[in-house]
Amino acid sequence: MNSIFHRVSIRKYQDKEIEQEKIEKLLRAAMAAPSAHNQQPWEYYVVSNKNIIEQLSQASPYTKCAKDAPVVFVPCYRSEGAAPEYFHIDMSASVENLLLEADELGLGAVWMGIAPGTDRMDTVRKILNLPENLNAFAIVPCGYPAEERKQQDRYEESRVHYIR
Ligand SMILES: Cc1cc2nc3c(=O)[nH]c(=O)nc-3n(C[C@H](O)[C@H](O)[C@H](O)COP(=O)(O)O)c2cc1C
Repeated sequence: MNSIFHRVSIRKYQDKEIEQEKIEKLLRAAMAAPSAHNQQPWEYYVVSNKNIIEQLSQASPYTKCAKDAPVVFVPCYRSEGAAPEYFHIDMSASVENLLLEADELGLGAVWMGIAPGTDRMDTVRKILNLPENLNAFAIVPCGYPAEERKQQDRYEESRVHYIR
């Protein structure tokens, strides 16, 4: 199985916990990502508390399906780093790694945007009581999938420009 060509956003989850071993694999994958100056700005909150998950599911109009996930990852980034202008790009690489590893492990997940919306970032900050130097980047609900979809083929030759 090649997760790059298999992963889809999964928004429905079985009522089944994720094994701790798999959670650690997901976090290892997330932290294996490249980052500018190798600054690794990430810190991950791993939320399984139902009450907090319910609150996170209301962080934006598009995060509702987080409610039924057994685990919600909240990738955050530190305020300090060698190249702050790359924080969001670094975090994107990290979240994509997490999504691909989830697929690899037979799990399903979806990236829900929080940054750069300052209102949403503040909402998540309050829910998780984040320290001042951490910033919420996204919400990533994860669980065993309760839906199945085939990935679309998005390859478009017209968007490729060879210079030989
Ligand atoms: C930056 C970003 C923000 C996203 N935010 C949301 C979101 O708030 N809610 C949601 O349900 N999906 C969200 N998605 C998932 C996209 O809707 C999804 O990736 C897209 O429709 C393509 O579908 P696929 O992931 O199944 O290939 C987001 C994806 C990205 C990359």
